[in-house]
Amino acid sequence: MSIVQAPMSSNQQGSVQSRAIVPLSAPMLQGGNEWRYLKECLESGWVSSAGPFVERFEREVAALVGAQHAVAVASGTAALHTALRVVGVEPDEEVIVSDLTFIAPVNAIHYCGAHPVFMDADPVTWQMDARKLERFLDEECDFQDQRLIHRRTRRRIRAILPVHILGLACDMGRIMDAAEKYGLRVVEDAAEAMGVHFYGRHAGGFGDVGIFSFNGNKIVTAGGGGMVVTGDAGLARRARYLTTQAKDDEIESLHGEVGYNYRLTNIQAAVGLAQLERLEGFIERKRELAGRYEAIFSAVEGVTCMPSPPNTRPTYWLYTVLLPQGTLPDVRRAIIEELGENGFQARALWLPAHRQPSYRSSPAFEIQAADDLFNRGICLPSSVGLDPVDLLRCAETLVQIINRQRSGVAG
Ligand SMILES: Cc1ncc(COP(=O)(O)O)c(C=O)c1O
Repeated sequence: MSIVQAPMSSNQQGSVQSRAIVPLSAPMLQGGNEWRYLKECLESGWVSSAGPFVERFEREVAALVGAQHAVAVASGTAALHTALRVVGVEPDEEVIVSDLTFIAPVNAIHYCGAHPVFMDADPVTWQMDARKLERFLDEECDFQDQRLIHRRTRRRIRAILPVHILGLACDMGRIMDAAEKYGLRVVEDAAEAMGVHFYGRHAGGFGDVGIFSFNGNKIVTAGGGGMVVTGDAGLARRARYLTTQAKDDEIESLHGEVGYNYRLTNIQAAVGLAQLERLEGFIERKRELAGRYEAIFSAVEGVTCMPSPPNTRPTYWLYTVLLPQGTLPDVRRAIIEELGENGFQARALWLPAHRQPSYRSSPAFEIQAADDLFNRGICLPSSVGLDPVDLLRCAETLVQIINRQRSGVAG
């Protein structure tokens, strides 16, 4: 069994971090061009936020997604903030966002001075519920002076922010149709969806703007980093402008408005590019691991395997199963802790955003599935380098715990 120290990724921290364990999602940094490109980068002296690797990384991500433009930035969160700014989200407006998500997209809405409206997850696909979205727009909003107004809050709704979670895809057909019908902009959070296709098109390439993250736990990492992709040259230009301190004049340092230092460094881009070259191999491996988990858990009564939404090429970035119906969050938490005691890092899905202390007063539309998925979901070790023996031991340990719970025997 390969026992590795879990990486301290910013959003993976938990009580089991300090022990030697089989990690949830560790990067695969050996075996590609990572060292070579880094060395080139250091030898050339191009280490900061300009340089050939940044440009190459942008070109390659744009080509992968099928977008005309890509702007490399410091993180997925910075990419989200930038994306919302460039599509024109203003203070006091609203953005409809997935309720079941890592918190970054919700915070990015807040950074704009805008407000989230939380949309439930689909109980089958686990992604934003596109039918509920349509119903919300039909039943809870009115057009006034060509603006879509949320009747309850009287605020203008400007955009939809679907989050493709866990290496699956949202129903972008329905979401884009709804956006067009109601005159809304779309920012796709594809931070977890590099390599995911929906109807043959790459996630992140449907909306006005898409974003990716290269955090240490993502399928392609740059240590940290993000990318803004778009088919619109004007939006790309504005993204580049805002992320480089909105500089209008190089010589006299004129800044036309308040900008940000959000650019990715050449060092990060060097690692990111080397990782990107290996993406198809990483996806193949993730899909193979998912197949192994599915073969085990599909035979366990009451357990729901990760879905394969129709017309999607999933990557199963983080393999997740649902515990039997009716499982309470404290039971799910105890199971995760017991897996940790056995040397396996597992995690719950995210606390739905409408339950987060900072967002409890924000509007939420008929949330049911997001709560249920949170109560029952367990994310399991899914690293590209995961040893199949460890996977088997982890799955068997979980099955034993579930069977023991079912027969009511105390642990
Ligand atoms: C869905 C989602 N959106 C946004 C982010 C933020 O990306 P970053 O950590 O690079 O800021 C992450 C995770 O890191 C994520 O999982």
